[in-house]
Amino acid sequence: MYKKSIDDPAGFWSEIASEFYWKEKWDPEVYTGNLDVTTGPIKIEWFKGGSTNICYNALDRNIETGNGDKIALYWEGNEPGSDVKLTYNELLEKVCQLANYLKHVGVKKGDAVVIYLPMLMELPIAMLACARIGAVHSVVFAGFSAESLAQRIIDCKPKVVITANAVRRGAKAIHLKDIVDNALTESEKSGVPVGLCLTYENHLAMERGATKWQDGRDIWWQDVVPEFPTKCEVEWVDSEDPLFLLYTSGSTGKPKGVLHTTGGYMVYTATTFKYAFDYKSSDIYCADCGWITGHSYVTYGPLLNGATVVIFEGAPNYPDAGRSWDIVDKYKVTIFYTAPTLIRSLMREGNEYVTRYSRKSLRVLGSVGEPINPSAWRWFYNVVGNSRCPISDTWWQTETGGFMITPLPGAWPQKPGSATFPFFGVQPVIVDEKGNEIEGECSGYLCIKRSWPGAFRTLYGDHERYETTYFKPFSGYYFSGDGCSRDKDGYHWLTGRVDDVINVSGHRIGTAEVESALVSHPQCAEAAVVGVEHEVKGQGIYAFVTLVDGVPYSEELRKDLISTVRKQIGAFAAPEKIHWAPGLPKTRSGKIMRRILRKIASRQLDELGDISTLADPSVVEQLIALGDS
Ligand code: PRX
Repeated sequence: MYKKSIDDPAGFWSEIASEFYWKEKWDPEVYTGNLDVTTGPIKIEWFKGGSTNICYNALDRNIETGNGDKIALYWEGNEPGSDVKLTYNELLEKVCQLANYLKHVGVKKGDAVVIYLPMLMELPIAMLACARIGAVHSVVFAGFSAESLAQRIIDCKPKVVITANAVRRGAKAIHLKDIVDNALTESEKSGVPVGLCLTYENHLAMERGATKWQDGRDIWWQDVVPEFPTKCEVEWVDSEDPLFLLYTSGSTGKPKGVLHTTGGYMVYTATTFKYAFDYKSSDIYCADCGWITGHSYVTYGPLLNGATVVIFEGAPNYPDAGRSWDIVDKYKVTIFYTAPTLIRSLMREGNEYVTRYSRKSLRVLGSVGEPINPSAWRWFYNVVGNSRCPISDTWWQTETGGFMITPLPGAWPQKPGSATFPFFGVQPVIVDEKGNEIEGECSGYLCIKRSWPGAFRTLYGDHERYETTYFKPFSGYYFSGDGCSRDKDGYHWLTGRVDDVINVSGHRIGTAEVESALVSHPQCAEAAVVGVEHEVKGQGIYAFVTLVDGVPYSEELRKDLISTVRKQIGAFAAPEKIHWAPGLPKTRSGKIMRRILRKIASRQLDELGDISTLADPSVVEQLIALGDS
């Protein structure tokens, strides 16, 4: 299949795409669209001329083939014992009610809708409702602060923001609606007023009476949506019409609005899900979902296959570290997809939290978000999977839409820590600094030759940045931003980001975003942020901070700086360490030498390399001396 996918991409993908419902078939003449990424302007298109609807394919099509009474979603609440389930029929009804409501309030094809919801059923419902009417959803992770949410609202100018009043995670309740209120005030000040905030009352976390309210703008979901009809006509959209925007971090401060379109994304997420997890119709699939995973492998990929999905609202250590395996036994989960950071944190709690549960339903395990270190891989494999479940270590990105390098369970021998081989249609290459492809055993920068159906098509409102960031660094290829090595057997080993992006517990954070949050503090003159190895989170944020002249260092100021970052970006971006820096190592032209800062942060002081090109080499000594303060 791989060979066919490379030799004849048009034939390969059109055969698969034909399994879906298309209102109009794509034009076979132009079907292959543009796979070429060797010359600009980059314009990737798949199934051009076809019209379809991803919500129709995920729900109606499965119902028509007799799966209406099958469970589509199980929801497990934060508190053990709180749960809800929805069949495909019920899910479609709920999606249609919301879709009808959105139409009623004037949302039309192409309009943006921002969704700021925690892991409730309403999150996939809201995404599918937008897709049904051709609206473009933009989900903002509910861990983002008001300021980050506002920045995203200002960029995509939604007609509606959908949220919940609060969420419980572990023992804590987080008042989401307050965050949204602040974001909406901010966006209004910047000339982007949002007329409607549809708020789901999550009464297990907070009663509606306790929620701050702005009459005229705020509407309770439960008061309006259930009144609407449970059937809603589908808006047929072009293959290349936008499906969603998802903001992600890059190496500048401004988040990038990654734009995915409909046809190719649909075919690609469904196919990758099916093969990388060896999906069977009897499977029960559970994913730990953030960000893009919540789109491709909680909502679209699994539902397009007619799968049963378990989503979990809470924290994996609540009420104790056995919660994930409790869920596995409760729902007889067969495929369990999670992140290395979770594996490492549970590993520290000891095996008894795992072995207490049977886990005998498990068949395939999955990992995503960051490189999985071999010891975490082995624990996941031996302890969680009882040495009988293959692990799909799936390498992919927000930009790729779906899996790019991943094992196919059972198809070839695994190596702990290697994402193994490319998925169908994907041609990874490793290039050196000059952009030359390197063959055989090697390491370098990971790029992709030619496009694949799930590829993002642009950065919203900034096609030039799309070309510069991804296609200019190594001419003729898509550049992933990751380092990778290939061993003598051809296996791929991802080694982490090579750009100014830090991956903290699978959350992608740009160093520039953290730096600009720090320097917004009136007493901070300059900041330089690097990633350091972290036992559980994979990487931690380490910030070098220069204060305004005359301001003394203090513990209070350190805390204040950290809280500034929490407030501006979100708690997940809080620096692990603030390192006071009277000066930063700069070249004579004023460029900060991060290479040196990384070595100081990781205390690899004998590997500082040549520091003679610095404008003032003595700052290095100073920084080292202050390192333990
Ligand atoms: O560095 C790689 C890492 O996560 C980055 C993509 O982050 P994001 O767009 O937020 O998507 C996360 C979920 C797909 C990549 O550039 N990454 C993701 N999966 C893996 C990985 N690194 C190594 N192995 C993986 N399996």
